[in-house]
Amino acid sequence: MPTSHDGPGRKARPRRYLVCEPRYFAVQYAINPWMSQDVPVDAARARRQWQTLVDAYGAHGHAVENVKPVAGLPDMVFAANAALVLGGRVFGSSFHAPQRRPESAEYETWFKEAGHDVYRPESLCEGEGDLVPAGGLILAGTGFRTSRAAHAEVQEFFGVPTVGLQLVDPYFYHLDTALFPLDDGGAAGSGPANIAYYPDAFSAGSREVLERLFPRAVLATRDDAMAFGLNSVSDGRHVFIAPQATHLIDQLAHEGYVPVPVDLSEFHKAGGGIKCCTQEIRS
Ligand code: ARG
Repeated sequence: MPTSHDGPGRKARPRRYLVCEPRYFAVQYAINPWMSQDVPVDAARARRQWQTLVDAYGAHGHAVENVKPVAGLPDMVFAANAALVLGGRVFGSSFHAPQRRPESAEYETWFKEAGHDVYRPESLCEGEGDLVPAGGLILAGTGFRTSRAAHAEVQEFFGVPTVGLQLVDPYFYHLDTALFPLDDGGAAGSGPANIAYYPDAFSAGSREVLERLFPRAVLATRDDAMAFGLNSVSDGRHVFIAPQATHLIDQLAHEGYVPVPVDLSEFHKAGGGIKCCTQEIRS
């Protein structure tokens, strides 16, 4: 029997990622419990950390596209929140916080120039922050940002079953801070699709839903989650993950994934990590 460290059959699939350089990144307002204007961001360090992430994507064979940062939009670096893209179709965003609302139009311009129409949601919706495709479903968070009404709009737009999940802990205000998909499953993966998540970020009913859908899921500890370990990006084999999430890193390695640690600690001060900085453009 092969040991788990052989990486049994985990296959990477090349991805296309959209990112936004953190030229104007700062903590200028507080819209989640991580943000405090009293804790300064080291801008140069943030830029170096972000570049390390982009370089890691490139080194592992992924294409990276850049949307131009805009002065006065310090959270625009969190590209995941701007849209959900599936099959080349773009479901845009409508931000909860007024400070972030102008970001939607900036990303919309980028998508239009790249040849995509953009659907503008009628209800509050923060893109891949709360909408996570996994196992032929769209897992959809609510409780702090994206509304239940947006889940219905997403399902209607993509025609993909959309499963609402109730977030209950303000530290995990976006679904992508509490859960991430590990692999596609089926032909591209090595079995059924799987995810990793932190159970206590969810209501009791939503935890049951996740147990039913993903009985083999990798469960993270609170320390892993507080280290932004669930704000990770997996290509099916490599998992770009916060180095502080030590337990989760060990578990993933044991499951045959290859953790690629990338430290985005400056972005944690804004409540963001690796996934938040990464929008996946799925064709
Ligand atoms: N400061 C940003 C906010 O609170 C961080 C967004 C993090 N993005 C994410 N996909 N979780 O909106």
